[in-house]
Amino acid sequence: MWDRLTIHQIFFFAFSLAALSWLLAPKVGCDSISADGMNNSVGSYCLLGSRTRSEASVITRLRAWGNSRSSSRTVSNGWSAVGGQTYGVYYHHQDPCGSSSGSADSMALGLAAGTVGVETMGSITCPAIRSNLVSIKTTAGLVVRDNVAITILRGSVGPITRIVKDAIPFQTVPDYTKSCKIDGLLNSRLGVPRNNAENPFATNMNLTPIMETFDRVLDVIRGLGATIIDNTNYTAYGEVNGNDAPQQLVGPSEYKMDLENHFRSLVDLIACTKSLPEEEYPSRDIAYWELASEAADFQSAEINQAVEKMKYLGGPGGIDGALDAAGADALIFPSVCSSDVPGLVGYPVICVPLGFLPEGTVEKRNPRGNLVEEAPGIPFIGRPYSEQRLIELAYAFEQFTGIGLERKPVLLPKSDFCSTMKRRGLLSRILS
Ligand SMILES: *[C@@H]1O[C@H](CO)[C@@H](O)[C@H](O)[C@H]1NC(C)=O
Ligand SMILES: *[C@@H]1O[C@H](CO)[C@@H](O)[C@H](O)[C@H]1NC(C)=O
Repeated sequence: MWDRLTIHQIFFFAFSLAALSWLLAPKVGCDSISADGMNNSVGSYCLLGSRTRSEASVITRLRAWGNSRSSSRTVSNGWSAVGGQTYGVYYHHQDPCGSSSGSADSMALGLAAGTVGVETMGSITCPAIRSNLVSIKTTAGLVVRDNVAITILRGSVGPITRIVKDAIPFQTVPDYTKSCKIDGLLNSRLGVPRNNAENPFATNMNLTPIMETFDRVLDVIRGLGATIIDNTNYTAYGEVNGNDAPQQLVGPSEYKMDLENHFRSLVDLIACTKSLPEEEYPSRDIAYWELASEAADFQSAEINQAVEKMKYLGGPGGIDGALDAAGADALIFPSVCSSDVPGLVGYPVICVPLGFLPEGTVEKRNPRGNLVEEAPGIPFIGRPYSEQRLIELAYAFEQFTGIGLERKPVLLPKSDFCSTMKRRGLLSRILS
């Protein structure tokens, strides 16, 4: 879906990500989350050297945990003009998925203790899962978003880490540490919206091995004391995707508004991007920017109406409706399908690894020849601000399955977390 979908792909086509670690000290800094002393260029040569008026509060807060950082930057499908192509670590020429793949890759390579990404629809979940990691896409607005290049309507900031527990320090208020309970799935109720597989992105994939894994995992979850309520389908799912979907109107409009709030005129940016050879236009196209530059005003009646429709599709016709019908705590369905509905309304998604596709699964490549290989994940999707419960479910699942540890990366870093720390004299400080 991130290959097709609107705001996401293009919003972050230009927006590079970074990663920051907070637990011990090194922070991997960022191009779409403003940080003092960094290039906040979102991967674009046209924006290189940009400074925001002030640093994102989320960085300032994390900075309190340590005093060093390094940077990484990537965008949708791992490419940005400034950063070039990034690959996922588990297969040769693996498409790392966008747009927070800089953060996910840094994490997978062991360059950070934890990283941060931004998501509207799949941008944290997809790269995290391709890299076999845990991600928490928080409820939109739960984590402060000042000086973060993300849609205010439904965008989130959230951690990408190796295990659920590592993601908790990010959530300073409230403290979710108590959610890490071994029996978190006991007496829980989980709905399965099977018609999410009709997602146009998923219909182009070989879903069979993923669904087989998923169905096996449902049995494991039942064994841990959960009740599975199958076929709690999204009643309005038929209107979520496609050319008439309301987000086709809303996406460009909010993108235009948010981009102009953050940077400079979209018209100038389009002209600049077309003129610089490093931006690789038209091979790396800016069709969405052009769409956005002509989009209706975000405050207009037309957009207002479409936003209301989106809220319905994500809420009563989507997540709230399915949760109510099943009396469920959360919904689960393989991650390749499931970012679209929560993305309409900024609802939370906590995703943990589901392992890898079996050896010998037919490889699919994107038009640039990069491997669209899924290391599938299982998302726990809930109502706004239900992170505490979602963490309980995800943590218990992770503890009992230990999925995701069985394959070695094919790419290895030239430097690692510990040697970086040592070089900076931080290791002794932390250990003492
Ligand atoms: C910002 O980008 C310029 C040009 O690529 C580079 O020379 C400089 O080192 C960068 N600054 C930081 C803090 O990364
Ligand atoms: C739910 O969706 C699946 C997949 O589209 C379909 O096979 C199933 O019949 C639906 N179930 C209900 C109860 O609507």
